[in-house]
Amino acid sequence: GQLPLDLFSAIESLKKELNAVILAHYYQEPDIQDIADFIGDSLQLAKAAQNTSADVIVFAGVHFMAETAKILNPDKLVLLPDLNAGCSLADSCPPKEFAAFKAAHPNHLVVSYINCSAEIKAMSDIICTSSNAVKIVEQIPKEQPIIFAPDRNLGRYVMEQTGRDLVLWQGSCVVHETFSEKKIVELKIAHPQAEAIAHPECETSVLRHASFIGSTAALLKHCQNSSAEEFIVATEPGIIHQMQKLAPQKRFIPAPPINNCACNECPFMRLNTLEKLYWAMKNRTPEITMSEDIRLAALRPMQRMLEMSA
Ligand code: 13P
Ligand code: SF4
Repeated sequence: GQLPLDLFSAIESLKKELNAVILAHYYQEPDIQDIADFIGDSLQLAKAAQNTSADVIVFAGVHFMAETAKILNPDKLVLLPDLNAGCSLADSCPPKEFAAFKAAHPNHLVVSYINCSAEIKAMSDIICTSSNAVKIVEQIPKEQPIIFAPDRNLGRYVMEQTGRDLVLWQGSCVVHETFSEKKIVELKIAHPQAEAIAHPECETSVLRHASFIGSTAALLKHCQNSSAEEFIVATEPGIIHQMQKLAPQKRFIPAPPINNCACNECPFMRLNTLEKLYWAMKNRTPEITMSEDIRLAALRPMQRMLEMSA
């Protein structure tokens, strides 16, 4: 078929026709953020998916996020504009290897970051996101040993914040590991008034230069509330679109990657485009599916998270 001239109004019409809701993560390209019904961090998006009355959820984000929406909504059609929109962090934790890791640590409670596949969720006791990880670990009795998967950087940050000893799965996010400590320091010297802020998926060498660490939603809120006029932002730069919208008078500098040729945009998130969003809605595909066994097993730790972070 042919693309309509005005994709924005064509998507609006399809939204009505399908009774669809478009949920978008902050790392999506600006046009997608602007057409979305709801934008948020992973926890806010999971809650929005849980509460929607729409028949169709169009997920403008990555595969594990759309899967999470499906886990919470088995009867709804969940569309992901590009099925290849994966996640290096989720991919760093294959189910077979994780099952062996779990078996090697009996009596451990498994707390998994939401950035993992439905299979990993199904092997977990509690899910967390970057906005509630500390709060959730703090609610677990001190004597209970814990496996934290798959992000070693968030895991290390939670260990520091809670004083707990966690057994970490050694996964990481390609995007948050590309930031250059050296270039961040140079930027801080060149912009002494700027406040450096970072996502906890960054390495310790970057986190130590940040005066505020939080999920995308927490970073966004911080920029609005802080008295600073300038920020060095160490996370995927898609969030800067919202920062600039909510605080137009402030200045946001994306933290630079180590290699000048590298890009600090998430290659998976950016696979979604307005065109693919249109075709997904028009053709009602690609759809997220999973076996009911996996879904039910993955739902339990998701529900525990939602209860514990209410
Ligand atoms: P949050 O938006 O929950 O902070 O997650 C960041 C991220 O890397 C999502 O892939
Ligand atoms: Fe995964 Fe990192 Fe991309 Fe988030 S930013 S989707 S954690 S690769």
